[in-house]
Amino acid sequence: MADGTTGADAVLSVRGVSKSFGPVEVLHDVSLDLRAGEVHALVGENGAGKSTLTKIMSGYHPPSAGQVLLDGQPVALASGVDGERHGIVLLHQEFNLAEDLTIEESIFLGREWRRGPFLDKRRMRAHAAKLLADLHCRIPPTARIRSLSVSQKQMVEIAKATDHRARVLMMDEPTSVLTQDETDILFGLVAQLKRNGVALVFISHKLDEVKRIADRITVLRDGHLVATRPAAELGQDEIAQLMVGRPLHDLYPPKQPPAADAELLLTVHALGVPGRVFDAGFALRRGEILGFAGLIGAGRTELMEAIAGLRRREGGSVAAGAHRLAYLTEDRKAKGLLLQFPSRPNLTLSTLASFTRGPFISVPAEDAALDKAIKAFDLRIGSRDMQVGALSGGNQQKLLFAKVMETQPDIVIVDEPTRGVDIGTKQQIYHFIARLAAAGKGVIVVSSEMPELIGLCHRVLVMREGRIAGELAGESLNEEEIVRYATGLKGAA
Ligand SMILES: Nc1ncnc2c1ncn2[C@@H]1O[C@H](COP(=O)(O)OP(=O)(O)OP(=O)(O)O)[C@@H](O)[C@H]1O
Ligand SMILES: [Mg+2]
Repeated sequence: MADGTTGADAVLSVRGVSKSFGPVEVLHDVSLDLRAGEVHALVGENGAGKSTLTKIMSGYHPPSAGQVLLDGQPVALASGVDGERHGIVLLHQEFNLAEDLTIEESIFLGREWRRGPFLDKRRMRAHAAKLLADLHCRIPPTARIRSLSVSQKQMVEIAKATDHRARVLMMDEPTSVLTQDETDILFGLVAQLKRNGVALVFISHKLDEVKRIADRITVLRDGHLVATRPAAELGQDEIAQLMVGRPLHDLYPPKQPPAADAELLLTVHALGVPGRVFDAGFALRRGEILGFAGLIGAGRTELMEAIAGLRRREGGSVAAGAHRLAYLTEDRKAKGLLLQFPSRPNLTLSTLASFTRGPFISVPAEDAALDKAIKAFDLRIGSRDMQVGALSGGNQQKLLFAKVMETQPDIVIVDEPTRGVDIGTKQQIYHFIARLAAAGKGVIVVSSEMPELIGLCHRVLVMREGRIAGELAGESLNEEEIVRYATGLKGAA
């Protein structure tokens, strides 16, 4: 296997690092160097070991074999806090903010500033406000975490991480929940940290971003380091191929739009959600894949939640006849999965009635369902007893998909179906969605990734400020048109 060491002026390195959880080894003999003033991208499929490697390099996990070196000297980091004391900071893939705290409290948690015996609240607030201002975040430091959107929460995590004056800053999929503007702001910050000599690690499934900011790229596959190369030497296709281990053809399946007279499965008329969605109307046909585009905050998720009956409606109507509707949430951590439980109960929870035999739950029936899901979705769950919370992000997403399909819906609404998902898995999900449509279901895809909407959907509605601003299909379905409607350059305000 390849090795990512250089010998030259490494700040932080690993040598021959392996990691096992119980009997399963998930990282195998990895060697890598991080240099000052360099952005090192880590890419790989879901479950390849990216998060695990960064946790070892920052002290959250001890390696099972091999060494971590700081400035060339072996170092045994006892914990994440110990890592931070050595100037090594990890921005985690999943949020770690306590919902009840305010922004300023989260930023200073465990390292509060004092004046004599008292907390120096005024100075902490001013400093928190400055950190937010540096990130162009217009939220008061006194706002509670629970009141923030996912992208705002991520900006707070970034503010907190960058305030550590780290020598090494590792960011595990920081942009998966950010808007384009927020991503640009983060990249500006990264450029500045680079100039200050910080060694950076950047993990992302968005290969265009990787190409944009990485100096070197390391590819992990199944826990092995398969290549470390200067970013300039690798194109996106080549990266994808190294990640997946096979050439990737046909990311998007061929489009087969429904006939103009295909049955209407769902008709939404003049629907409102107080303060969020206004006068929304559209119809979905059998066999159709209908996309919803728009900026974050445009009201797409709120509209879908109202259609699914999860949110109070204000006027209007939703007619779905006797058709069963399933909704796949964008927030898998808070709303989708029971992270403390293994895969099986998570898969069957919402359809338990179909797994009972008399008064009992039939474990064999549940097991058979899990077998089927593992095959259909290429789930990599390790052992069956493993908590879902320990699955890689992409595998959590696929499990959520499998769970929703257990209800055998006619109408499927998926919200950000490929967030945090690797490119090989994306291809599987796209083809799966196309098969659903070909089988006569209606599918609604809410996504912030324009290429995905354009590549997959037969028709796309663009939302802006709570209203459906425009409809695109055929030739006019392209990024420029979506942006025009999403930003109000075109269509009714
Ligand atoms: N605490 C744990 N206990 C058991 N297995 C674990 C634990 N943490 C991670 N794993 C397993 O280690 C492997 C690597 O996971 P890791 O989270 O590092 O992948 P990743 O490359 O970050 O994936 P993703 O792109 O989905 O975030 C996976 O098979 C995962 O299920
Ligand atoms: Mg990860």
